This record gives sequence, C-alpha cells and structure tokens, in this order.
Amino acid sequence: PLVSLTEAGNRCRAENTGLGAFNVVQLEMATTLVDAAEAVGAPVVLQISQNAVKYHRGRLEPLGLAALRVAADARVPVVVHLDHATDVALVERAVELGFSSVMYDGSALAFEENVSTTREVAEFCHARGVSVEAELGEVGGKDGVHAPSARTDPREAAAFVRRTGVDLLAVAVGSSHAMTERTAELDTGLIGALASALEVPLVLHGSSGVSDDGMKQAIRAGITKVNVATHLNVCFTAAVRASLDDRPEAVDPRRYLGAGYAAVGPEVERLLSLYSG
Ligand code: G3H
Ligand code: ZN
Repeated sequence: PLVSLTEAGNRCRAENTGLGAFNVVQLEMATTLVDAAEAVGAPVVLQISQNAVKYHRGRLEPLGLAALRVAADARVPVVVHLDHATDVALVERAVELGFSSVMYDGSALAFEENVSTTREVAEFCHARGVSVEAELGEVGGKDGVHAPSARTDPREAAAFVRRTGVDLLAVAVGSSHAMTERTAELDTGLIGALASALEVPLVLHGSSGVSDDGMKQAIRAGITKVNVATHLNVCFTAAVRASLDDRPEAVDPRRYLGAGYAAVGPEVERLLSLYSG
C-alpha cells in the first residue's frame, strides 16, 4: 500500500535500518523496484524528481499516477515522493495528485529564505497529510562534479527543523550527486552528531558514491533514507549496452530495456537487504 514518508521513515529510524529511495523516470522502474521490495519484504520509496518531470516535457501526472497505482497494489509499504523540487507550484501539483511525500529543495537559498519557503511548503503539505523532506547544507555535484566539502551544522539543523516543521532532513556529510565510482568518504562522526541533535530521520543524497561498507556504517551512525539513482543507471546502461552488442539486429525495445531492468532488479534486492541489516 501507499504510505507516508513520515510513517516509513520513523519506523526505519526506530529500527535503525535504512529506507531505500530510488529514482523513477519510466514506468518499468516503478514495477522493478516494487517487485524487488516485495521479494525482500522491505518498504521502498519511488521518487520522481523535478528533472524527471522536465524530461516528460513538464508532465507529472502520467508517471505519477502510474507510480501511485503500483504503490497501491504493492504488498509492502511504498512511498511515492517528489524529489528535488525547487518549484512550489510543482509541489502543489504532486500533493493534489496524491503523492504521499515531497522534497522541497531550498538548499541553494540563504538560510533564512530556506527556512521561510520550506515552512510555507510544510504548512501546505501537512494540512493535506503529506510528508516533507527538506535540505540544509547543499549536497553538490548535480552536474557530475564531485563536490564533497559541504557540511550541515548540527545546531543550525536543529533550529531549521524546529522552525520549519519538516519531517525528514537531507544533510551534507561528504556525499555528492551523480558519482559513478563508489569512492565517497562520509563523515560518520557528523552523522552521529546530527542524529543526536535531531528527532527527524536523516536523508543521504548521492548515495551512489558510497560503498556497501560505507553505507552500513552510515546507517549505523544514523542515516535513514538512502537516495540512489546513478548507481542503478550504471547497472541499467551496462546491461542495455551488452544486450545491443549481443543482438545488433534487435529492434524491439522490450528486448534491450528488458535486459536493463533484469539487471537492476537483483541489485535493488541486494541493496534493500543491505540497508535492512
Ligand atoms: O535525489 C536523488 C539522489 O540524491 C540520487 O543521487 O544519483 O548520486 O545516487 P545519485
Ligand atoms: Zn539528491
């Protein structure tokens, strides 16, 4: 069934397990993720980013409604989440469509502006029963640049959560977006300090750059939601490329896309098992 991110996140935080959150750009990814989550018996977050909406030429509804239907039919708890939204109007559309969670990303704003905009978004969402994730301390690297130096200050984070009322907080602790090698060094001491300073679950963006051992340590230290996109794209693309090389005569996309998703499924099962300890 569809559940809120607050419910799934708080349960994982209490159990000290990780909650896998994976980006969805095509319908097949949603079904692949839910099949994997059911195989492991773990909850999962299907996240659709503002960039994915842009890829669908501004349309949120077709993919969003498909993800919501896949979630409703699932035998495990599934969150349908809007990822990295900077456009408040898009947040409102996702809430109206039935998303159970949104991330409003004001991390590029100055602290006070991030507080005031995030608080308005949280009031809107909470009035409609929708969870809110926010970000403080920018996790860089969205253009493929490894920018690991940003850090979230625990005292500032506590004030931010108190003043905005958000349900989860994305923190900068050494990861970067879009890494294709798993070489990021996380600041586990800082993760521990943030987990003690805050009552809400912590989110790690850019988890593709983190090794299996690094992720286990980060979860032990206090990370709950684990955002992964690029790592699965690497698996998917390698399998699609191998399939096209093997069968140069293939023209039916189900053949090579199917090969890609067939590689992604077992990797998601492996990651979800790792996160749930
Ligand atoms: O919000 C999405 C994630 O932070 C994904 O980052 O592509 O580096 O795994 P990644
Ligand atoms: Zn992210």
